[in-house]
Amino acid sequence: DIILLNESYVPRQEAKIDIEDRGYQFGDGIYEVIRVYGGRVFLLSEHLQRLKRSADEIQLALPLSLDELKQRLLELTDRTKLDEGIIYVQLTRGVAPRYHGFPDPAVKAQLVAYTKPMDRPLTQQQQGVKAVLVNDIRWLRCDIKTVNLLPNVLAKQKATENGAFEAIQHRNGTVTEGSSSNVFMVKKGVLHTHPPNNLILNGITRQYVIQLCSELNLRVHEQTFSVNDLLQADEVFITSTTSEIIPVIQIDKDTIGEGRPGPITQQLQQAFDQRIA
Ligand code: PDD
Repeated sequence: DIILLNESYVPRQEAKIDIEDRGYQFGDGIYEVIRVYGGRVFLLSEHLQRLKRSADEIQLALPLSLDELKQRLLELTDRTKLDEGIIYVQLTRGVAPRYHGFPDPAVKAQLVAYTKPMDRPLTQQQQGVKAVLVNDIRWLRCDIKTVNLLPNVLAKQKATENGAFEAIQHRNGTVTEGSSSNVFMVKKGVLHTHPPNNLILNGITRQYVIQLCSELNLRVHEQTFSVNDLLQADEVFITSTTSEIIPVIQIDKDTIGEGRPGPITQQLQQAFDQRIA
């Protein structure tokens, strides 16, 4: 398998990460997960813009322009002959003697990207999934797509241990987002999702779905809602690059709506399918 390590395409087995890489030691880095459908990279510019924003927010200097990065990711997709799957791209603040403050003088950010074949989760999309509720114990900059994911790891593990697909997080009873997805609910024909502030990652799929809603004349309220509202919703679904749109039909012991994917969720799934075809 060929991967991208800084400016070189190398076999995965030959790629070496230093033990004092700041991503490895401090989680001092950022990443993106990008979908590839039929060899075409989906919403690449949007993901790169968000990567740039994450970099700016943690004062990480990109070692190359977004245009150059785009060319490298496209070349990587070509070289690995990826048809259906994802690109993972990560940047860390570089390699330096361990000290919490930024390296001084600054060192070059370390770039890694690789592709991975991945099928669309069609069964989950058609049948819906279970979710569990967990406390959102993360920091107050969830808008940054950082590799510091321990709270998300623990949340997803709780889901897994309970036979659920996702963990839906809440802060003092206000629903924020999934461990690796955004959360929408439908009530009386109106969609609700957490506003894009410091408490959630503004998902690329989330933004895409909101755009689809406007094209389909569906109303979206980007306003907070409670766990109680969530459990009493007519429909709930999660969105992410890897999941696309997955209906949630059960949360802990509560059935959502009729316990099967709802009509508005299905309408959005159909619209989404058409766009990526
Ligand atoms: N996760 N919220 C969190 C905390 C996420 O980690 C993700 C994505 C999302 C959805 O964002 P997007 O639609 O841009 O994928 C929301 C990726 C897929 C991951 O970590 O694997």
